[in-house]
Amino acid sequence: MTRFGSSPRTLVSLFLFLLLGPMGCTPTGNAPPETPDDTVRNRPAVEAGQTYLTAFDAEIDELLEQMTLEEKVGQMTQADMSFIEDPEDVAHYFLGSVLSGGNSDPEAGNSPEAWREMVLSYQRRAVSTRLGIPLLYGVDAVHGHSNVEGAVVFPHNIGLGATRNPDLVEAVYRATADATRATGIPWNFAPCVAVARDIRWGRTYESFSEDPDLVAELGAAAVRGLQGTDPGDDGRVVACAKHFIGDGATAYGTGAPKEELPDSVFEGSGGHEGTEDPVDRWPLDRGDARIDEATLRAVHLPGYLTTLEEGVATIMVSFSSWQGKKLSASRYWLTEVLKGELGFEGFLVSDWAAIDEIPGDYRSDVATSINAGMDMVMVPDKYREFFETLVSLVEAGEVPRARIDDAVRRILRVKYAAGLMDPEWSPETDPQLLGVIGSPDHRTLGRQAVRESLVLLKNEGVLPLAEDRQRIHVVGKNADDLGNQSGGWTIEWQGASGEINEGTTILEGIRAAVSPDVEVTYSLDGSGGEDADVVIAVVGETPYAEMLGDRSDLSLDEEDRRVLERTFTAGAPVVTVLVSGRPLLLGDALDRSSAVLAAWLPGTEGDGVADVLFGEYSPTGKLPFTWPRSMAQLPAPDEENPAFPLGFGLGY
Ligand code: BGC
Ligand code: BGC
Repeated sequence: MTRFGSSPRTLVSLFLFLLLGPMGCTPTGNAPPETPDDTVRNRPAVEAGQTYLTAFDAEIDELLEQMTLEEKVGQMTQADMSFIEDPEDVAHYFLGSVLSGGNSDPEAGNSPEAWREMVLSYQRRAVSTRLGIPLLYGVDAVHGHSNVEGAVVFPHNIGLGATRNPDLVEAVYRATADATRATGIPWNFAPCVAVARDIRWGRTYESFSEDPDLVAELGAAAVRGLQGTDPGDDGRVVACAKHFIGDGATAYGTGAPKEELPDSVFEGSGGHEGTEDPVDRWPLDRGDARIDEATLRAVHLPGYLTTLEEGVATIMVSFSSWQGKKLSASRYWLTEVLKGELGFEGFLVSDWAAIDEIPGDYRSDVATSINAGMDMVMVPDKYREFFETLVSLVEAGEVPRARIDDAVRRILRVKYAAGLMDPEWSPETDPQLLGVIGSPDHRTLGRQAVRESLVLLKNEGVLPLAEDRQRIHVVGKNADDLGNQSGGWTIEWQGASGEINEGTTILEGIRAAVSPDVEVTYSLDGSGGEDADVVIAVVGETPYAEMLGDRSDLSLDEEDRRVLERTFTAGAPVVTVLVSGRPLLLGDALDRSSAVLAAWLPGTEGDGVADVLFGEYSPTGKLPFTWPRSMAQLPAPDEENPAFPLGFGLGY
């Protein structure tokens, strides 16, 4: 029997089920695509008054009775795989979860097989313990299973926001879930339901929109895609709405102090020098939201309300602060609002070493956060210290045993819901499942997502490109670079330029789209545009992620300005394609271009750009963010006088 629905819809769903049969049970809104491959699992039906998360509470109570304090505290501990000193620690500390952070790949390489083997090796250790509770392994598959070689990388959320198509967003996250589960990973730290309110923030592209309603709609679609109606079904995973709450609301100038962050944060990223701003703080990331509660709720809560409605099983607590206080320490938001007022039954996970940023020593950080309602802590390196500290806090009566039981109950609920506690569950996933990674279906879906995400900002009639061209000249650093078009959180935490993955660059897509009579030439530096019929200039940003992507100036960089100058002086009409994680200031390139297309961070399927340039498809994307005219308009671009308003987008 498939489950009936999820919190808080159970009773309504039960009713609909009796009335309409299983079709009445699909979540609100658009019905998810039929998934004939979903297993019909031998699990008890959810009874009235229960949700899929509370359906196993009786079993969980029995399990809790058998557990020692150490076994319970272990469940609350999440280590990052790259910091696990001895693989036996998984069993020794009864770890509840292991994650792969953005830079944590299998030692045996980055292939899907290596990922599967790695997860399996940790999982085998977890199930070898006395109680044999499996790990809930977690990963950031925020735009496809993007750390894994050969996986299709979908557009980042900002591009999905431009599609305004919840069915497509659901399908993209569905495919992501499939790829993630295939490697044995049942938990994805997605979707990000941040409402970015200052595009200087380096995580703007992880946000679907500045518009809370759009974030709420697409965040819910993403959860449907990831979890389906049951995160324990084949090809589904546990979702994680993040980062609770107000991560996109931080005030400019309040970001995290650079020197206080542990070195582990910068491993593999080039370090603190990765930023242009030689100041002591990141301007926005992990900063302080200085807004009143009514505004915080109105703008930054809707994405949680709708994802809760879809039964999202986990929520990640933000690094950031609200009115000067770290969310990781906020009993009000974690316990009173989320678990009390909103009835959240799943569990809360901290962000990466985020509790360390709570004022006070480590012992007080642990006590404050757990007592505030944090259920699992992403430690991620000093898991031994965390474990010892929490055990000792409980023994000293500084963290109540009832709080530990509540946290562990919630974590076990999610493990049951993920199917990990089924008697027939095995850590040995079928290696055949890996075939879905980079499959033709995923590539086709990626290409569709790319073309629907494109926003046409200007067109003096040059687009769609006519068939009768003889030479199309393509220029710029983002024309032929898979890494640049994929952005951060791709293969590496901060992403990287170059051939870091498999896929089609924008240039390759253009070459494949033209007839054999048309010559396509390319230059990186903008030279060679003379005598071309049209020049396509593909410029914009190079990859970055959290912290290092914060910027004080969103003008085109020097290199792009030089490339464009050469291009414009050559005389042919210029189509400017912008590959970026947010709106950029185009300066006079806006006037001098005959057409301007915002492509966001499309991912590996660059041929979707050619689909629109050559008119196979008319552009349908609409701006998910207001496009400012100048830096002076930030953080909130003037609604009366932006370069382009929210929702803007031309067609053919
Ligand atoms: C990890 C990321 C993590 C970041 C946190 C990096 O070293 O690879 O996954 O998000 O640190 O700051
Ligand atoms: C990020 C999260 C991410 C986590 C694990 C953190 O630094 O803020 O979004 O899920 O690392 O990589």
